[in-house]
Amino acid sequence: MTDVQSESATGMAAGPNPFATVLQVSGGYCLPRSLHVVAELGVADALDETPRTAAELATSVGADPGALGRVLRLLAAHGVFEVQGDGKFGHSPASRLLRTDHPQSMRAFARMFGLQVFWETFGAMEHSVRSGLPATAEVFPEGFWGYFERHPEAGRVFNEAMVAKSRGAVAGILASYDFSGFERIGDIGGGSGHLLRAILDAAPDARGVLFELPRVIEGAAGIASERLTLQAGDFFRDDLPECEAYILMEIIHDWPDEESFAILRAVRRAAPAGARVLIIEQIVPDGPGPDWSKMLDIHMLTLLGGRQRTRQEYEELLARSGFALRQEIDTRAGISILEAEAI
Ligand SMILES: C[S@@+](CC[C@H](N)C(=O)[O-])C[C@H]1O[C@@H](n2cnc3c(N)ncnc32)[C@H](O)[C@@H]1O
Repeated sequence: MTDVQSESATGMAAGPNPFATVLQVSGGYCLPRSLHVVAELGVADALDETPRTAAELATSVGADPGALGRVLRLLAAHGVFEVQGDGKFGHSPASRLLRTDHPQSMRAFARMFGLQVFWETFGAMEHSVRSGLPATAEVFPEGFWGYFERHPEAGRVFNEAMVAKSRGAVAGILASYDFSGFERIGDIGGGSGHLLRAILDAAPDARGVLFELPRVIEGAAGIASERLTLQAGDFFRDDLPECEAYILMEIIHDWPDEESFAILRAVRRAAPAGARVLIIEQIVPDGPGPDWSKMLDIHMLTLLGGRQRTRQEYEELLARSGFALRQEIDTRAGISILEAEAI
């Protein structure tokens, strides 16, 4: 082993050392995979404020003590859980987020990335890179959304993950955009209605329509009210409601350009002139540095054939669909609002 290799292999620090970079990026997938498994097992729920040994935690969650201890050691080295002086494991701020009862719980988000439809599809990712098409069809012929029809429990984890990832974003969206001027707001593909409900709380004179696939609407039945209507449908086939404002949060990134155009055209057909469409997405920045949008982009490519887009790509898509981009608002919560007007 050369000096460079031995230093990298023992130090494991990603940095300017190119050998270490390749080492880390090649084998680093075991780190997220460890997080998925620990989230699935509910290890964070089995740990309160009193540190516990790996053996105690393993008994609580039904795991092998040695194996769980090694996985927790790796995670703790990356800030998820903490190893105490006596070798017991305690919580870190990040591991607390894996608790089911945490107000900002991200457990469902971590479980979602470990779902069979995610992980097995990534095994077939070469297909996406060669063809530009989603790898999902190679592994699950029913496709990404069809998978959830066949596996309702996985669909529930996905919907909970959407609520989880939106918690920070919702606060930022409400702080940076005034919804009070709208009478009727449509959330198209709004999942469990988490964003729409928060908007209606902030804009007490507004009414809302949650438009979603029938399976998702069934799961959201409990949130219907005099001010919040549920409409089951498919945005490629069914008419959308007539509203003054339309929200599309992390919808367009799921689709290639032609399907994205079809969704925006469906919104435009339903929208009166002057109506607003709010595309809420992580915009790909111009700079070359790391950004979560670039990770998300590869998820969209592999799982759905979709993509994260630059502001200019959105502007072009909107113009083609009958909308003029009016402003981009950085919510400071890791997501932007592109406000466009139906013309
Ligand atoms: C990435 S999730 C975003 C959910 C929510 N807007 C958010 O950001 O939390 C995409 C949503 O699109 C919905 N969806 C997918 N295909 C659809 C279709 N053809 N018609 C209506 N909704 C659809 C899914 O059920 C899912 O809830």
